[in-house]
Amino acid sequence: MTEFDRYRDGYSTQIDSAIAFSGQPQDFFTRAKARYLLDTFSKFRSQNDVSLRPLDVLDIGCGQGLIHPHLGPAQSGIKLTGIDVAGTVIEEAKATNPDVHYDVYEGTRLPYHDRSFDIAYAIAVMHHVPPDDWESFLIEAARVVRPGGLVVIIEHNPLNPLTQKIVRSCPFDQNAVLLRSGRLAKLFRAAGMVDPKQQFIIFTPFDTPFFHKLDASLGWLPLGAQYCMAAHVPS
Ligand SMILES: C[S@@+](CC[C@H](N)C(=O)[O-])C[C@H]1O[C@@H](n2cnc3c(N)ncnc32)[C@H](O)[C@@H]1O
Repeated sequence: MTEFDRYRDGYSTQIDSAIAFSGQPQDFFTRAKARYLLDTFSKFRSQNDVSLRPLDVLDIGCGQGLIHPHLGPAQSGIKLTGIDVAGTVIEEAKATNPDVHYDVYEGTRLPYHDRSFDIAYAIAVMHHVPPDDWESFLIEAARVVRPGGLVVIIEHNPLNPLTQKIVRSCPFDQNAVLLRSGRLAKLFRAAGMVDPKQQFIIFTPFDTPFFHKLDASLGWLPLGAQYCMAAHVPS
């Protein structure tokens, strides 16, 4: 049984209590990440010849699949697969997201052929992976992505003091090791990927279109609560 199988029942409650001071529910943060991903998917589509088929997307460490309803796989032309090391959590994800295919694995070798996906992403997973395994985690993600495809990592930003506060007060983050975006960019390159591009997200706790636009315009500023980084698998 993994750490996250044990925390399964209290997962959302513990996150809600850690972020309570922000005045926003967990879903606010999930939707901000979904906006970034949908934008990335749409840019990828417009730059690549995938208009005649669904985009093959893999969510590594998907947990309960909380973001999957926001990606609207059935409506948005995405064929979504989620995978995690925690089997009980995947059972929950399956029950709530019938449009998504889910798998469980042991945490090192993804059970997919080379070049199976257009995009593989992982949200809030790498800080639970031991730092010695960060590079191999990225190499494995890149292996299952087609040449020209993208690996996307969304992580907590250790430079944001409120993020540090949330991580300190979350019981299942006890062993978390946060990584800075600069370190992640180096790891992407060491893992053979090219052109890592970063965007910081979630600068304010306000949930209106105006503040969503403001957030997008501040993406260069390394103070957002989280950051997203996307790098290409060489063609
Ligand atoms: C903080 S949760 C994030 C879940 C989900 N990505 C989200 O944002 O809601 C971290 C997840 O990473 C999973 N995990 C930890 N190590 C992993 C690994 N090596 N491969 C895949 N998943 C892993 C855990 O089981 C857990 O579900």
